[in-house]
Amino acid sequence: MKNVLITGGAGFIGSHVVRLFVNTYPEYKIVNLDALTYAGNLENLSDVDGSSNYTFEKVNILDVEELERVFSEHEITDVIHLAAESHVDRSIHSPLDFVHTNIVGTVNLLNTAKKHWANNFSDKLFYHVSTDEVYGALGATGFFTETTPYHPNSPYSASKAASDHFVRAYGETYDLPFVISNCSNNYGPYHFPEKLIPLFINNIINKKPLPVYGDGLYTRDWLFVKDHATAIDRVFHKGKRGDTYNIGGFNEWKNIDLVKLLCSQMDEKLGNQNGTSEQLITYIKDRPGHDRRYAIDATKINQELGWKPSVTFEEGLAETIDWYLENTGWLNNVTSGAYQQYYSNMYTNR
Ligand code: NAD
Ligand code: TYD
Repeated sequence: MKNVLITGGAGFIGSHVVRLFVNTYPEYKIVNLDALTYAGNLENLSDVDGSSNYTFEKVNILDVEELERVFSEHEITDVIHLAAESHVDRSIHSPLDFVHTNIVGTVNLLNTAKKHWANNFSDKLFYHVSTDEVYGALGATGFFTETTPYHPNSPYSASKAASDHFVRAYGETYDLPFVISNCSNNYGPYHFPEKLIPLFINNIINKKPLPVYGDGLYTRDWLFVKDHATAIDRVFHKGKRGDTYNIGGFNEWKNIDLVKLLCSQMDEKLGNQNGTSEQLITYIKDRPGHDRRYAIDATKINQELGWKPSVTFEEGLAETIDWYLENTGWLNNVTSGAYQQYYSNMYTNR
């Protein structure tokens, strides 16, 4: 019997992981723990809300007493830790929020797991979900492997790198059973429209400028979020304890090429004349400390665990655009009020 605590389950990736686990493992009890920050939205999980093997706990990972209550009440046996501040641009403006949630919050969870499991670690697991951004920036060639040295360049990636180190240190020091995965950029339904793809979909719908940083030649390696969720499932069940796995789709895109593909798919779906959305592209001042290129070598997870992505980028992007066009209510809810104020501050400060 597994009682799995998924933190950050109301966020983008977490909601896909919760949905996959609730639907695939009716014999597990899934506890979604989330503070519901601006990025957490229970609407993301309305389809699994009534499931008998699902419970939601509105808890901040900075609140140790509440963490201890949740571990005891639900007799937690496993943790899949996704709760985090996740946006690089926000980390540039408010680095301490990232130190608190991503570093202190992770150590709080590690301490609670260690204490609750009381050194009886058999059949327990602390799975830490991390990012490829901990490795820093690549030049024109090469890939991040599991042995690439950490070289984080943004407050976000520095805080994630620190949390990865703490998880590994708890494994070495206290024998806490852990596994870590480092994934490339995700995209898909329920992605908060502050990140490149959903922001640009929303702006195209509303005929607003598409702000491309710098020369637009920065490269990211994109993975469909549902494929990340199946990779997490695979690592959770089959990953070697104490090990780390890189997750990616061998799918590199220069930002400007991706934006042009997005524009042409959007024009087709909106019935616009070809080229309409591209006219919205606006080059703006670069992000400070902007990493030039990310690219994951996902050979290990493929060869050791037999995982590979299920969709091409064109298929995943088309499904994503369709979802946003069919869910304008969701989009309007998350883009109203405080969110818009945040963005008007961000853009006037550039
Ligand atoms: P997200 O910002 O969409 O969701 C984060 C969730 O964590 C939200 O539901 C939020 O309410 C919750 N949260 C934030 N602070 C909290 C706190 N103090 N206590 C409890 N809950 C809190 O993020 P995401 O894109 O879904 O990313 C999830 C995880 O995956 C993060 O750890 C991120 O570093 C990692 N990751 C993301 C990507 C990506 O492309 N988005 C890629 C690789 C790894
Ligand atoms: P983002 O979605 O913020 O993810 P990350 O910084 O974690 O990779 O950004 C993806 C790429 O798109 C990155 O190179 C920055 C760029 N970008 C823009 O050019 N304009 C934007 O408005 C945003 C949000 C991102």
